[in-house]
Amino acid sequence: MKVAILGKGGSGKSTISWLLSQYLSQVKNIKTLAIDADHNMDLSTCLGVNPYEVKHFKDFNDEFRQLANMPKVGMWREYFKSSPVYFTYPQIEQTEIVGKYLTSVNPNLDLIVLGLGDEEIMNSYKCSHALSAPVKHMLPTLNMENGSWLVLDSVAGSDMVNYGLYFAFDCVIAVVEGNVNSIKVANQLHNLINKQGMKLNFILNKYNRENNFIPEFEQEFQDAILGKINTDLALTNYDFSSVDKVNLRNLETIFTNIKTFPPIQDPYQKLKVFEEGKVL
Ligand SMILES: Nc1ncnc2c1ncn2[C@@H]1O[C@H](COP(=O)(O)OP(=O)(O)OP(=O)(O)O)[C@@H](O)[C@H]1O
Ligand SMILES: [Mg+2]
Repeated sequence: MKVAILGKGGSGKSTISWLLSQYLSQVKNIKTLAIDADHNMDLSTCLGVNPYEVKHFKDFNDEFRQLANMPKVGMWREYFKSSPVYFTYPQIEQTEIVGKYLTSVNPNLDLIVLGLGDEEIMNSYKCSHALSAPVKHMLPTLNMENGSWLVLDSVAGSDMVNYGLYFAFDCVIAVVEGNVNSIKVANQLHNLINKQGMKLNFILNKYNRENNFIPEFEQEFQDAILGKINTDLALTNYDFSSVDKVNLRNLETIFTNIKTFPPIQDPYQKLKVFEEGKVL
């Protein structure tokens, strides 16, 4: 199961990614791969990992291109002209080539840090999007074995939707807060994800039904709301052992709802069509 967490800046993407990763790995005993795909590397910090002390997955670029028999430089769309490279989790833990990018958080939880925020971009003509290329191209052919889950924490807003990061995901979720801009961004993401032939789902964070915006949103998107998470000091402190009982029940509902999603069909082909359809 591959789950992506999107949403407006500050809506709670990293917090929900942290919470879900902890719940899966500690409560459900599910082998989980968390991917910190944001420049700020907040998910890493929430999970107690110093993001500056680990290898960054953006550096997998050269090795991946070699595995795919691609030239060292040039556009990644060339990837689709040769055979795809296949990966499996948890086995990639053991492989020298990808395993070195995994950090163990607990026996059931590994972390990959993209590590986008550095001087490589400032001092070159490289676009920061290109640094997401290894993860974007690996995910469609990453086979999650033995019931393992993947949880990816995103950059805020719609940028990575336009980049095509989400074709590999079985369940794409936007975190929504009860304020006008969070709901506006949720609608923007919903429209863009629909245009890519996928469905956007929602988790209502810092839930408060008295809020002016939430009842209307709940009515409009009732089929896509997977659950809610209440405001909880344990989440601000990233202390999983003291998460409120109501929130643990809310998490169980979210988990049960996500589990009903069928595996996405042929994600490699979907990304290929998307990439080849781009105007050069
Ligand atoms: N349910 C919650 N209860 C209490 N605090 C929360 C909750 N959800 C998020 N927060 C707090 O709200 C703030 C923003 O959360 P978070 O960093 O997860 O948002 P984000 O969407 O990942 O932000 P960014 O766009 O900067 O990556 C943090 O201080 C976090 O601790
Ligand atoms: Mg974040």
